[in-house]
Amino acid sequence: MKGLTIIGSGSAVPDQLLSNRDLSAIVDTSDEWIESRTGMKERYVSLSQETLAQLAAKASIKAISMAGLTPEDIDLIVLATSTPDDLFGSACQVQRRIGAKRAVAFDLTAACSGFVFALVTASQFVRQGVYHNVLIIGADILSRWVNWEDRTTCVLFGDGAGAVVCQSSETEDNFLGFELCSDGTLNSSLNLTYVSEPLNLMENISVGSGGYQSINMKGKEVYRFAVEKVPEVIEKALHRSNLTVKDIDWLILHQANQRIIDSVAVRLGLNKDKVISNIAKYGNTSAGSIPIALDEAVGQSLIKPGDVIAISGFGAGLTWGAAIFRWGINYG
Ligand code: ACO
Repeated sequence: MKGLTIIGSGSAVPDQLLSNRDLSAIVDTSDEWIESRTGMKERYVSLSQETLAQLAAKASIKAISMAGLTPEDIDLIVLATSTPDDLFGSACQVQRRIGAKRAVAFDLTAACSGFVFALVTASQFVRQGVYHNVLIIGADILSRWVNWEDRTTCVLFGDGAGAVVCQSSETEDNFLGFELCSDGTLNSSLNLTYVSEPLNLMENISVGSGGYQSINMKGKEVYRFAVEKVPEVIEKALHRSNLTVKDIDWLILHQANQRIIDSVAVRLGLNKDKVISNIAKYGNTSAGSIPIALDEAVGQSLIKPGDVIAISGFGAGLTWGAAIFRWGINYG
């Protein structure tokens, strides 16, 4: 079994800023309501011609550059997204855009848990010695799927992408443990479903022909679920890593709600100054949120080589998971 280290990170958001004040001109809401209930102040949203693959490629190029590699060094690309440009997947378009000619690329969908699930999936290929350099991306453009007349959801989401590059090692292992969970019985709490209309092709033969609806979320249910399950899954991932909460240097949760982040930290007994949050600036960027927060903390030199980082994602499915890793890069 090989070891695994994250050797680069990168992130990208669209240029277009949407503030709470802007939102209050669109729906019946206020800066005060949004900030006090969620911690969000602003978020970035893509223009209609901007693609998920463009955003993901921008983040990827930065991560590959920090890793000191070129796109042609990448063996595998896993793109976590629920909002591909193409229902058949967008990972190959990212591969094309960055020029990762040798890589195999595929999409993975686990909503806001997507980055954690993708990191864990990629780590299995690395551990088995199948792939050496792996690019893992979390990216979403949920603004495409929000009902802009529904104030209970449209104020929550922003667009963005984050990426990391992992490399295998014979001597060093910095990926310490993980735990992944899902529960399809809770699907109705949060979904974006395809609704089928019958299309009669001929007598006695009909198929479905429909479209996707906008995001549907029972906020309180998801809130309660997150506050209960996230501390639990982090504790399990720590146990698998032979560590305890005391060993965590940085906690990076999916940035869905500042109140969820605070409550999880309290339940874990973790000091506030170990919790990374950038929700005020970006809102909930779904699969993008954890790698964007990680990359920003790396950019601010908060995270130091040797630091133990716990990440945890949760969202539609319902899905949730946590991974524990040691930061291995000395980025100067
Ligand atoms: N502006 C003003 N008022 C609003 C707004 C708004 N944007 N949205 C709702 N309200 C009103 C409601 O209508 C309600 O009014 P009422 O009391 O007259 O009925 C009142 O505010 C309270 O609404 P609640 O839904 O009870 O508000 P709550 O405190 O639960 O906050 C929120 C809602 C922010 C959505 C919260 O429940 C939450 O964060 N849930 C978790 C969401 C989450 O974590 N999602 C993660 C996964 S995302 C993914 O996987 C894609």
